[in-house]
Amino acid sequence: MTESVFGLHGRVALITGAAQGIGAVLARRLSEAGAAVALIDLQAERGEALARAITAKGGKAIFAKADVTRAEETDAAVAATVAQLGSLDILVNNVRPMDRNRKAFPESLAAWDIEHDIMLRSPTHLIASTLPHLARSGHGVVLNIASVVAFTISHGSCGYHAAKAAVVHLTRYLAHELGPRGIRVNCLCPGIVDRDEGTKFTDDPASKAVTDRVIPLKRAGTGLDIGHAAVFLCSEAAAYITGQTLVVDGGLTLGLSFDAGMAVYRAAQKGEI
Ligand SMILES: NC(=O)c1ccc[n+]([C@@H]2O[C@H](COP(=O)([O-])OP(=O)(O)OC[C@H]3O[C@@H](n4cnc5c(N)ncnc54)[C@H](O)[C@@H]3O)[C@@H](O)[C@H]2O)c1
Repeated sequence: MTESVFGLHGRVALITGAAQGIGAVLARRLSEAGAAVALIDLQAERGEALARAITAKGGKAIFAKADVTRAEETDAAVAATVAQLGSLDILVNNVRPMDRNRKAFPESLAAWDIEHDIMLRSPTHLIASTLPHLARSGHGVVLNIASVVAFTISHGSCGYHAAKAAVVHLTRYLAHELGPRGIRVNCLCPGIVDRDEGTKFTDDPASKAVTDRVIPLKRAGTGLDIGHAAVFLCSEAAAYITGQTLVVDGGLTLGLSFDAGMAVYRAAQKGEI
């Protein structure tokens, strides 16, 4: 049987922030598509459990504990990946800081530094340190996970918005720089995504009312929505796509529809808001 261009058989993918959330779904989806996966995270227990679960389903997975802000730790994780899985073809920069609290402007410089260290500096270093392996691969891919906040204003701090917007342009710069070495660099921007754990937008009537109103496809995204798009961008089906940003948001960034605006108008007329 010939291998589908949408498959990832024979590829090795390293995913940061893979112990939970979107990163864990990305790891599972890339594995299901055929890739061997290296999971990088601070949370060893969760990361190791996920690697075991992927292996139990017939996949190949390792976990390497690393703080992405410490170059020596990510360098060691890259070396362990190549030593144990044989190569490195795909790098997915997914990690985000655990602190999700919205910080009013001006946030502290310390908070800004943490956000930029984790979401901008660490991906740049990881791309540099994986470069020899990605170039050797012949089909090297970098996939950066940014967010719709790169284009619109939402929950999250100024530092989060600025870092995500910078990741979009980092993607363009590095696609231009690394294309001649056979490496594609793309970016995925999730919108509102239901977490695997805890209350889902879909389960909570108030949250569902929001997604119904602001998202044309009338639901929050799932990790799988992001995972499917990631597999596509990492596969040979996307062999001629580089420097691009794919927004996966059910139409959220298209803006409020006139109908949604009228609903607000009617509520205001009735004194409800
Ligand atoms: N969840 C959403 O609705 C949403 C929306 C838009 C974009 N995104 C983006 O998707 C990506 C994943 O988001 P999520 O919500 O699934 O994340 P999450 O908060 O659920 O998981 C982040 C992971 O990163 C790990 N981590 C944090 N700091 C680390 C460090 N210094 N070193 C190593 N690992 C570290 C954590 O342990 C955790 O496992 C992020 O880039 C985020 O900005 C998410």
